[in-house]
Amino acid sequence: MSVLALARPELLTLKAYSSARLEAGRASVMLNANESPTLPFVGDLLGLNRYPDPQPRSLMDTLAALYGTRPECVFVGRGSDEAIDLLTRAFCRAGQDAVLISPPTFGMYAVAAGVQGASVISEPLTADTDFRLNVDRLITAALAAPVKLVYVCTPNNPTGSRVPLADIERLAAALAGRALVVVDEAYLEYAGSESAVGLIDRYPHVCVLRTMSKAYALAGARLGTLIAHEEIIGLVRRIMAPYPLPTPCVDAALKALAVRDEHQARIAATVQERERVYGALTGIRDIRRVWPSRANFLAFQVDDARSIWNQLADQGVLIRDVSHYLKLAGGLRVTIGSPVENDQFLEAVGRVLA
Ligand SMILES: Cc1ncc(COP(=O)(O)O)c(C=O)c1O
Repeated sequence: MSVLALARPELLTLKAYSSARLEAGRASVMLNANESPTLPFVGDLLGLNRYPDPQPRSLMDTLAALYGTRPECVFVGRGSDEAIDLLTRAFCRAGQDAVLISPPTFGMYAVAAGVQGASVISEPLTADTDFRLNVDRLITAALAAPVKLVYVCTPNNPTGSRVPLADIERLAAALAGRALVVVDEAYLEYAGSESAVGLIDRYPHVCVLRTMSKAYALAGARLGTLIAHEEIIGLVRRIMAPYPLPTPCVDAALKALAVRDEHQARIAATVQERERVYGALTGIRDIRRVWPSRANFLAFQVDDARSIWNQLADQGVLIRDVSHYLKLAGGLRVTIGSPVENDQFLEAVGRVLA
């Protein structure tokens, strides 16, 4: 059975928009896309008068090599946010299908479902001390309802906890033919764990999300990657925007991806800083708990999160109030910044909680 048996049937026969750049690549006389023949007045940013390649081969090849897959199994969109949106639209029928999430977790899964008119079923992470994925309960919940997408965020935002690959595989084995397992690895670079990409050959309903917004410092370029069975990638490309990737963003990504060693060094430095900040926060008496994290942020618990957040903001230090998330009462989340920023944060916390 094809994995597309899970998709919205009407999309399988939908005629995709055929962009000028897809129909014909580039030639010396380009008169097929109603573009301006002149370069824009933006200095030396070349080529912006032309529509970009919707899925540029050089970027696909580079990202496929980076993430350990083949270019046919890669879709790049405007952040992984767009990939989440496209998967939801491709697989969830409005008013009929559902997505399954494990709160507390990243908010866009539920937002994308809401926009599509799909319902959201929640199977919370386990005890609030370790935030483990409740695999058995997830399987039961997914099989009991018309669930099309099951999200696994590892390391999870905002808890920083990670999901063992064996748990993801057990979930995938149980849901074959029933639902896609969407593994969001936005922060995997900081976790030092193995990607779920290796599962796709055996479980074609496993999809993996990666992003250039975190470890590659390109949040402003909006580039996120979906890695999936090529049939799923084909379906997503069928419903993608005609030209999702702006030329300067693709250029920036290729430049960034050319310097792998520097990224490794930066990631290692962030992990080291994370452990330093973790140690410092655990030493502050009025912080009730700091959750160990495998990502580039830390969640911690105080008595009055809103008041602490406000007092830090008054001192010019912005962190995230996550106290409204399920099981995160009193929760705040701080991103690991530069050593100087981390010191400023710790000094401000020290003043506020003194
Ligand atoms: C878990 C997770 N997934 C996906 C995203 C979206 O990332 P982007 O759209 O920038 O690729 C984020 C952003 O914070 C995130 O925390």
